This record gives sequence, C-alpha cells and structure tokens, in this order.
Amino acid sequence: MPSPDHPVPDRADGVVRFLLDGEVHSVRDVDPNTTVLEYLREHLRKTGTKEGCAEGDCGACTVVVGELEGEGVRLRAINSCIQFLPTLDGKELFTVESLRGRDGSLHPVQRALVDCHGSQCGFCTPGFVMSLFALYKTEAAPSRRRIHDVLAGNLCRCTGYRPIVDAACKMYEYGAADGGDWLRRPCAGGAPGGEADPEETARTDRLRGIRRRGALTYSGPAPGGGRRTFFAPRDLSELAALRQSHPDAFLLAGGTDVGLWVTKGHRELDAVIYLGNVAELRRLAVTPSHIEVGAGVTVTDAQDVIGRHYPDMGEMYRRFASPPIRNAATLGGNVANGSPIGDSMPGLIALGSTLVLRRGEETRELPLDEFYLAYQKTALEPGELVERVRIPLADPASRFGMYKVSKRFDQDISAVCGAYRIRLGEDGRARDVRICYGGMAAIPKRASGCERELEGRPWSEATLAGALAALDRDYTPIRDMRASADYRRLVARNLLRKFFFETSGFAGETRVIDHGGAADG
Ligand SMILES: Cc1cc2nc3c(=O)[nH]c(=O)nc-3n(C[C@H](O)[C@H](O)[C@H](O)COP(=O)(O)OP(=O)(O)OC[C@H]3O[C@@H](n4cnc5c(N)ncnc54)[C@H](O)[C@@H]3O)c2cc1C
Ligand code: FES
Ligand code: FES
Repeated sequence: MPSPDHPVPDRADGVVRFLLDGEVHSVRDVDPNTTVLEYLREHLRKTGTKEGCAEGDCGACTVVVGELEGEGVRLRAINSCIQFLPTLDGKELFTVESLRGRDGSLHPVQRALVDCHGSQCGFCTPGFVMSLFALYKTEAAPSRRRIHDVLAGNLCRCTGYRPIVDAACKMYEYGAADGGDWLRRPCAGGAPGGEADPEETARTDRLRGIRRRGALTYSGPAPGGGRRTFFAPRDLSELAALRQSHPDAFLLAGGTDVGLWVTKGHRELDAVIYLGNVAELRRLAVTPSHIEVGAGVTVTDAQDVIGRHYPDMGEMYRRFASPPIRNAATLGGNVANGSPIGDSMPGLIALGSTLVLRRGEETRELPLDEFYLAYQKTALEPGELVERVRIPLADPASRFGMYKVSKRFDQDISAVCGAYRIRLGEDGRARDVRICYGGMAAIPKRASGCERELEGRPWSEATLAGALAALDRDYTPIRDMRASADYRRLVARNLLRKFFFETSGFAGETRVIDHGGAADG
C-alpha cells in the first residue's frame, strides 16, 4: 500500500492510478479514449452506473471524484460518460457501488430515497444517489433551492422531483443517527479547529501516496490498431515542451465538449494533452484591478468569484449546464471552444476582458472581442493556448447586466444571451458602452452600431428607441433548433429594454411587451 513516505514510483511509468473503494487501482494498456463509464461497465463489470445519453445531459452516469486540494480532499460529482479514464490519475473515484455498507446496508442517501419513494424506473436513480452523495458529504444544511440546483443535471421523468428533494432533506437524519464509516457521516459543516476525522486523514494520505510529481505519459491500444497517447503535464514548462514535441495533439481540459467528439462524433483522438493538472492554469486570483482566471479553473470555481463581483454573471453560471458539467468544464475550454452560443463570452466581452495566450515561453494579451474571427475559428496560432482570462473589476459608476434565455431553465444552452455594460456619468449620459450577444451571429459579437447609438447620449427612452433600431441592423440572427431568427431578434431587443429599465430607475414600474415586426426606432 503506498503512503506519503513511500509513494508509488511515478514519473514516466505509464500507469494510471486512482483509488477505487479505498484501494489503489492501476490501469495499463486500455485505450486512452475510453470513458470512465465504459471502463466501469465494460472492464470492471460495475454496472450500477448507467448510460442514458452519453453526452452529459441526463445524469444517469454521475459518479463522484475526490481530488487533493490544500490539506484535504475535495469531492465533486461529474458525468462519467464524457470523462476520459486517464483523467482519474491521482484521484479517488466513488460509484454507486462504493456506497454499499460493509454489512450490505444502504447508504443514508439511498435509505432516504427508498423511504420517500424517490425511485421508480431505477435507471436514473444511481445518478441521483451520487449527486446527493456529493451534497451529503460537502454541505451541511442545503436549502430546497440549493437541492434543486444540485439536481439540475439529473433527469427523472416519472416520479417527479418532489419525493427526491424530500429525500435530499431527510438523508441527513439517517447519517447523524447512524454514525458509521466515513462515507456515511454527513458533512459536519466545516467547524474550524474540530478534531480531524482519522478515517478521512487516512484517505487523504492514500491519495498523497499516489500523487504524481511529474507528467503522466500513458499509452494504450486503439481499437483499429496502433497506439494512442495521453499526456498529463503538471506545469507550464512541461506543457510547453509537450506542445512543441506533439503539435498535432488535441488539448483536453474538462472534456465537456471534447468528450462528445468521441461519444457522439466517433472521432479518434490519437494524442491528447490534458490541461487539468497544470498548476498555473488552475490559479484564480483577484488583484486590485482584475479577476484573473486560469484557463483550467472550473466553471464551478469561476462562478463563485465572478458572481461575487458580477451577480448577473453568477446567476447565468447557475444556469450554465448542470453542477456535474460545471465541476469539469473550464472557463478556458468555454472561451477556446468559441461556440456562438457559449455562455461566458457575451458577459466577458461586455466587461472588456482580455485573454493571455501562451506559446512556449512567450505570452501575448488579446481583447476577447478580437479572438473570434469566424464560426469556430479563433485567433489562436499553432502551438498557442489560452493561459488565463483577465476580467476588469467593476468601477462604481458602471452598470452591468446579463441575461440568458433558453428553452429550459436548467441544463440548456442559450437561444440568446445578452450582456450590457455602461458607465453613467453625473450628467446622466451613457459612456463606455459595450454590448455583446451570443446566439445572434456565427460568433459571440458586439452590437457595435447599437453601442455607437448610445455612446454619450442621455440614458433615456428616446435614446433607447434609436438604439433598438440600430440593434436590428447589427445582426442577421442565426436560425436553428433552439430558435428562429425572428424570435432571436425580438428577444435581443427586449433584453436591451430590460437592461435599460433596470438601470434607469424605471425597473418594476414599466412593462413593455414587444411583439416584434418592424424596427420601432
Ligand atoms: C450537457 C452539456 C451542457 C452544456 N451546457 C452549456 C451551457 O449551458 N453553456 C455553455 O456555454 N456551454 C455549455 N456546454 C458546453 C461546455 O460545457 C463548455 O463549452 C465548457 O466550458 C467547455 O470546457 P471544457 O473544459 O470542458 O473544454 P474541453 O471540452 O476540454 O475543450 C473544448 C475546446 O477547447 C479547447 N481548449 C480547452 N482548453 C484550452 C486552452 N486552455 N487553450 C486552448 N484551447 C483549449 C479544446 O482543445 C477543445 O477544442 C455544455 C456541454 C454539455 C455536455
Ligand atoms: S449518460 Fe447521460 S449524462 Fe452521462
Ligand atoms: S425514477 Fe427514473 S426517470 Fe424517474
């Protein structure tokens, strides 16, 4: 058994090691494109974890991953169907089978679900159990709203959510009464200075024992012959060297886009460079002028900090995919993927954010609104990657608003997302106007005509009328399964109106329903 004093010989040994049910599990010679779900079901025959959609949407495949962070271990629910197996290296994996008591008894989460009649089909249930297990171990007294948010990525189409949410409230009662092993003890609420839990300390030590100091280079057979390689550097200099020696390798961050290339697009990734362990990319800092978000910071972590400074963006991130997706997805991946309906970009562009791009030892800074050149084409040069996103802090005279409109409240990508930033001078005029929409063009794009129309003018309904007309001219909206072009145009107008009413003192007093048609400027 490895320990902190006798770590597993690591370096370039080409073996993926993670903890499964408390034991070190080693993987050799398995295709690196294998997902965690495939591995569990088809290699280990652990079939408790289910496959519903294989694209991160339904939550049937939810598992929990533990990772060393600071002095302890952080647990997060993720979707195993789009997570590649080698990303588990150095982590701990919990599946629904892990929760079974030594005497075969149910876990408090499972008992609560049974007692509250929270399961009918049973197929979606392991996913619910695992999302609730992550909650049970990390939060002491979640509100019903919080429970709804936590379950946003788990779909149930038969019992309805009420009994499941009831179970989430009740699960803590059993844990407190039972005591039992560490898995069964609910989160204590993080009382500072409390006694360390010996079982938890032992688990943390086991994880330290498999922590790798250098890069992982793992290779495994491709189904059609040949071999594939998965590189996981730990710092920027290792990453830069790998980028140079393997210019054709795909960059992988959270895999919530890339995973679907494989599970849905059937693409074959012969060489992958995983960014998830690169320490510098995971840094998140607030300086006197900026929020500096490393490209490898997850959306969950970025959401907390950005939301503190820009509550509308925090609210948008609450509706960005689901918690398991946000726990894996990174801000850098969202920006680099460059989808015209990606949710971070409108807000980041309206705020005047910049990107720090890196190639080898060289870096350059580029305004985010200059990064997108055409549909899925960015200004990234060969060998370059996004190192971090720099978001200016708000100045007290500026107003910022951001709104996401999608068919479903949770777990849905935007039809339209609008973001607005103005500075209101003492003379009541709008200055430094920046407006950006997602879902309105082939790229996240500023409404430059509308901005010009507003710049320096009184922030009034008369000015707004001209701005709305200009907005119509700024875009030829896209049309797809999410929304028609007319719908998008109408929503874009009404979101600008909403921002105007919220920032001009009219909020709550005026309701405007625009049924579209000709520009009413
Ligand atoms: C079910 C589901 C729901 C979703 N909902 C939303 C949503 O509501 N809103 C939304 O905006 N998106 C959504 N997405 C899309 C996705 O989650 C985001 O785009 C996410 O931020 C991608 O980040 P990632 O770390 O997973 O990127 P990955 O999938 O790892 O990578 C995405 C792309 O970026 C490149 N890349 C990653 N990091 C870097 C870097 N540092 N430098 C250069 N290139 C890099 C990769 O090579 C790849 O081309 C959803 C996806 C799923 C599966
Ligand atoms: S199988 Fe549906 S989210 Fe993974
Ligand atoms: S219990 Fe499975 S869909 Fe509702």
